[in-house]
Amino acid sequence: MPDRQNLPYRPRVLSGMRPTGKLHLGNYMGALANWVKLQSQYECYFFIADLHALTTDYADTSGVAPNTLEVALDFLGAGLDPETCTIFLQSQVKQHYELPLLLGMVTPLGWLERVPSYKEMQENLANKDLTTYGFLGYPVLMASDILLYQADFVPVGQDQQAHVELTREVARRFNHFYPKIIREPEPLGTFPVDVLPEPQVLLTPSPKLPGTDGRKMSKSYGNTILLTDPEPVVRQKLKTMVTDPARVRRSDPGDPDKCPVGDLHKVFSTPETLAKVYAGCRSAGIGCIECKGWAADALVQILEPIQARRASFSETQAKEILNAGSRRAARRAAQTMEEVYAAMQMTLTREAAC
Ligand code: TRP
Ligand code: SF4
Repeated sequence: MPDRQNLPYRPRVLSGMRPTGKLHLGNYMGALANWVKLQSQYECYFFIADLHALTTDYADTSGVAPNTLEVALDFLGAGLDPETCTIFLQSQVKQHYELPLLLGMVTPLGWLERVPSYKEMQENLANKDLTTYGFLGYPVLMASDILLYQADFVPVGQDQQAHVELTREVARRFNHFYPKIIREPEPLGTFPVDVLPEPQVLLTPSPKLPGTDGRKMSKSYGNTILLTDPEPVVRQKLKTMVTDPARVRRSDPGDPDKCPVGDLHKVFSTPETLAKVYAGCRSAGIGCIECKGWAADALVQILEPIQARRASFSETQAKEILNAGSRRAARRAAQTMEEVYAAMQMTLTREAAC
């Protein structure tokens, strides 16, 4: 059997993000920047997971649409190119409602209850009632997102790895019940293949990216630097950022390895600046204010082209891009659904219905 990794065609990549609102540098470094690189190498599908937002925010859906628009603009600002990859909105592709029902039939309840984030999220979001069918079924929704495109690779961070693993198990169970098919034309030659190939994780290396309070940058901690923050805001946020606690006075030496600002330098600054930071901090030759100024310089330099590109798209254009992408995604998803229905022998009146 040929290896799916050494293929004459471009393997498919799929990934998604919840519409959490304006994205921050952590989202960029942990996902988006990697997607931008992948788009030219693979056939890529990137989507905004608004149906996933409903699994937790069903009682108040007012934020979903505005947040979706912000995320779409941030995708474009970061450099996802709608000519190069397919950018779409999950709720606009009806197959994302169709496949979860069918996959739900073969997914044992125990698998869902054992997903590590299930109990954890219920406890963390104790203010929301998450004892719903939709919330328990979230991993089936995610498996469907991936399998609908018969994706070869799923770029995600470590936090999502268990979900892709479950996706593989769901695919395996589906393929165990239903027969292989001969798909023509197949770039690999003509032989029976599984309808739902098991996707592989492309683990996104995520550098340690602290927020302004020194904890991991996260929207829920309120410590983020947004992709849309204008220069004065970035500089102000850096000014109040925590530093090496050992460096109380200007004359005290510090250690960039124990300082969140030092961590930012490691990710964003040039080797020359980084060398100045290490030498100056350890000898108390520089002050934190100066050091933070250099970190802000590096951030502003990264953010500037992102903000310029973002500003070149209107909200109307962003919506049109999502719509066109969703139509393209739906065409690809429909192909998979035909194979799924055929494998499950659900085609009695299917031709007449189409
Ligand atoms: N669950 C992911 C998150 O919370 C988003 C997501 C939904 C996703 N469907 C996906 C990611 C499919 C990768 C593939 O970030
Ligand atoms: Fe942190 Fe820079 Fe101050 Fe050192 S000089 S403690 S690295 S902010």
